[in-house]
Amino acid sequence: MARERVPTGIEGLDRLLQGGFPQGKSYLLAGLPGTGKTTFAAQFIQEGLKRGENGIFISIDEKPSHMVEDIESLGWDLRTPADEGRLTLLDVSPYFNWVRYAKGNAVDANEVLQDLAKQVRRINAKRVVIDPVVPLVLHRDRLYDVQEYIRKLIFGIDDNLGVTTLVTSHPGPWSFGSSEIGIEEYMVSGVIGVRLHKLPGGRHVRAMFIRKMRGTATDLVEYSYDIVNGRGIVIREPLYETEARAQEAVESGNGAFAGGAFAGSASTREASIGGDSSIAQSTWNSSSLSSPAASTGVGTPPPPTLTPMSLPTDK
Ligand SMILES: Nc1ncnc2c1ncn2[C@@H]1O[C@H](COP(=O)(O)OP(=O)(O)OP(=O)(O)O)[C@@H](O)[C@H]1O
Ligand SMILES: [Mg+2]
Repeated sequence: MARERVPTGIEGLDRLLQGGFPQGKSYLLAGLPGTGKTTFAAQFIQEGLKRGENGIFISIDEKPSHMVEDIESLGWDLRTPADEGRLTLLDVSPYFNWVRYAKGNAVDANEVLQDLAKQVRRINAKRVVIDPVVPLVLHRDRLYDVQEYIRKLIFGIDDNLGVTTLVTSHPGPWSFGSSEIGIEEYMVSGVIGVRLHKLPGGRHVRAMFIRKMRGTATDLVEYSYDIVNGRGIVIREPLYETEARAQEAVESGNGAFAGGAFAGSASTREASIGGDSSIAQSTWNSSSLSSPAASTGVGTPPPPTLTPMSLPTDK
């Protein structure tokens, strides 16, 4: 029987994914800084909340409170669901402290898993985000260790937690050989790449490509997309069409396209690939979290546990 689908909430993408991610597996969103990974991840979590599915957001490169603020700039409120216990923002800094104190002794992926499992059970979470996964393993200098760690983490999540997980990553030294394919890409059930693409005329456009999606027929077409207030990521059209229109604009001497007619424009073809105008905007109100962060004694290694994050009460 086909797996149930977990909609991402991203306009246009769910149609391309035949309804969303196959349920209960892990998916990777890979891209360089600024390509929209955190936005995608927050949208995935928000879509779950909208559907009554609780979520866990492990924010690694930036403080969870900063992530929440950035997402507010898109018109979405993650504070209220966090305060209501429907969303857990996890602080991973105890792990990094532990690694520092332990002087290179690796934190067992099983410990991370056990902690995560506790948090998942606590709120009966259905969706998990790890944004991005790589710093969790960066202290490991041996490729084999990194590979083992990610394998344990991803397989452990898939086999035990019953959640649909989105991890983000970017290319780097943890990738295999000269290829930019990170080892994590082989282990997840699906990979979506995001990048910036330079158009004729010089302007850049965001582009998304479903590189792999087990159990799903994909069209192997790269799509251009925008980030739009209140809607988040919106898939527009095949990138080659965007490219052709940019080329036409250059050839006709019309600089308007290159000047930004693309973003949020009704002239684009988002509807043709299933733009869902019914995506509701968040109506959550501002509130705060009350869980305290872990305190640690001087000179004492902090316990390597994932800690629910407090958010400041004032916005
Ligand atoms: N309200 C908004 N409207 C339009 N675009 C926005 C809005 N907020 C953010 N963006 C765009 O999204 C980009 C950042 O997206 P995001 O933080 O999701 O990227 P990222 O891939 O997670 O980056 P990093 O790897 O640095 O964490 C910004 O550079 C900005 O151009
Ligand atoms: Mg980010």
